[in-house]
Amino acid sequence: MTHRPARRARCASASPLFTPHGTDRAARKAARRQLAEAAAKARAETAPHPSGGDEAEQEMPSALFPPRGRPGPASARGGKLKLPAHRMTTATVAGAYPFLAEGGLGAEGIYIGRDVHAEASFCFDPFALYGKIEGFTNPNVLLAGVIGQGKSALAKSFALRSVAFGYRVYVPCDPKGEWTPVAAVLGGTSIALGPGLPGKLNPLDAAPRPPSVAEADWAGEIRKRRLLLLGSLARTVLGRDLRPMEHTGLDVALDAVVTHATTAGCTPLLGDIAAMLNSPDDLDAAGGLMSGRLGDASRDLAHAMRRLVHGDLAGMFDAPSTVAFDPRSPMLTIDLSRLGGSGDDTALVLAMTCASAWMESALSDPHGGRRWIVYDEAWRLMRHPALLQRMQSQWKLSRGLGIANLMVIHRLSDLLTAGDAGSRGRALAEGLLADCSTRIIYRQETDQLHAAATLLGLTSVESEAIAHLNRGRGLWKVAGRSFIVQHQLHPQELSLFDTDARMH
Ligand SMILES: Nc1ncnc2c1ncn2[C@@H]1O[C@H](COP(=O)(O)OP(=O)(O)OP(=O)(O)O)[C@@H](O)[C@H]1O
Ligand SMILES: [Mg+2]
Repeated sequence: MTHRPARRARCASASPLFTPHGTDRAARKAARRQLAEAAAKARAETAPHPSGGDEAEQEMPSALFPPRGRPGPASARGGKLKLPAHRMTTATVAGAYPFLAEGGLGAEGIYIGRDVHAEASFCFDPFALYGKIEGFTNPNVLLAGVIGQGKSALAKSFALRSVAFGYRVYVPCDPKGEWTPVAAVLGGTSIALGPGLPGKLNPLDAAPRPPSVAEADWAGEIRKRRLLLLGSLARTVLGRDLRPMEHTGLDVALDAVVTHATTAGCTPLLGDIAAMLNSPDDLDAAGGLMSGRLGDASRDLAHAMRRLVHGDLAGMFDAPSTVAFDPRSPMLTIDLSRLGGSGDDTALVLAMTCASAWMESALSDPHGGRRWIVYDEAWRLMRHPALLQRMQSQWKLSRGLGIANLMVIHRLSDLLTAGDAGSRGRALAEGLLADCSTRIIYRQETDQLHAAATLLGLTSVESEAIAHLNRGRGLWKVAGRSFIVQHQLHPQELSLFDTDARMH
């Protein structure tokens, strides 16, 4: 072992730094002075000795290398090492250095903002990407982030900027009423629903028949959709699946009401269905011999339907629609901000179910062009399997119809609130996640990182990144490729999308 007296002498003792709690000002000052003197002494000793000095000391590398790099042969800077230049595709570099050298998604689509690591513009269009990048199997987008991070602002930018490409935007559920100004600016329509408001939607409205479908087939399709709607409403209110007799009860009630409405030349209403379910004798008579005791078995159903007719949603969905669906409108939003809460979100879910059923007529037209359906605040809907089921069936059809769904939630664990592991609700929610080729993650709380990493298969670098994102900045996972993107807002968008106004 080499003995280095000079080196040992240079180590300044840290003892003057230690000033026990309670020492007075003079003692602290003296300690500081001692430290300064010791440091100065140590500096003087380290300075190169003019006469050559200790040899071992001369060999010590300096703490900072000169601009030419580390001196000595190990630096390989002697000019003797020659390597051929190595060229590779951007895709390969992107694999070797994720984030730093991502090839980008191309310039097609709407401008979102800046790719933070590549310092490049970031554009995105789910329809343009479909079939172009591997693993991009559907146009649906999941957007998650804590409160106030700019999720809605991003969704609104999608809407506003996509309209320039001829896409239409539908917002079936706007619980805060924040989409109404956006629709107004774009020349779209907003329907406000709530107690005492004039807007009414009849979810049993029949969609206009597409010319390619035969009349009889279309009647069957309408009947199927109405039954699905009634089933969803009943399941949401009852909080359970329907029994076989209850299915029959709905079936019989619907047929009787539709027959009566057709002869009278009017549209069937939810109120008529509720009245029919409420009169057991009529139901038994309409059900014929096969009905058994249909009237008794449908008693729960009658109470469930009553909520839509006489409960907190009275008047909104049990009257003829006051607005006709305009398929040419660039944007349609349903403002549910004045619905009034009953503690839980059941009223919101029922309203959303009715509104989306009413919208379905336009959405199921394959010639309706490219459309966005935005489920803002979707975390409020996650606990209701009946609605999730409707959403999922819509998502499955999205590719064929040219529809991109955008679902906004707070945290990934919102998906887990749909039910226990293995339950139907959980399977539906996980199915929705699996059907989103694009996942945009805004900042997540630290206790949520594990759930996010597990559900999305994030790397440790990505999990670390999402814990420290600023407002408007998100991790974009597009079919397995990752980007950190800063969403940039035009000043006019900023004032239009401002949801912080009341905080200032
Ligand atoms: N990229 C951005 N640059 C600057 N400001 C932004 C950006 N994105 C959003 N904001 C502003 O941040 C505020 C909150 O945004 P926003 O309402 O979209 O948040 P949010 O995530 O939807 O919140 P919540 O979860 O409460 O719905 C808005 O006033 C908006 O103008
Ligand atoms: Mg929001």
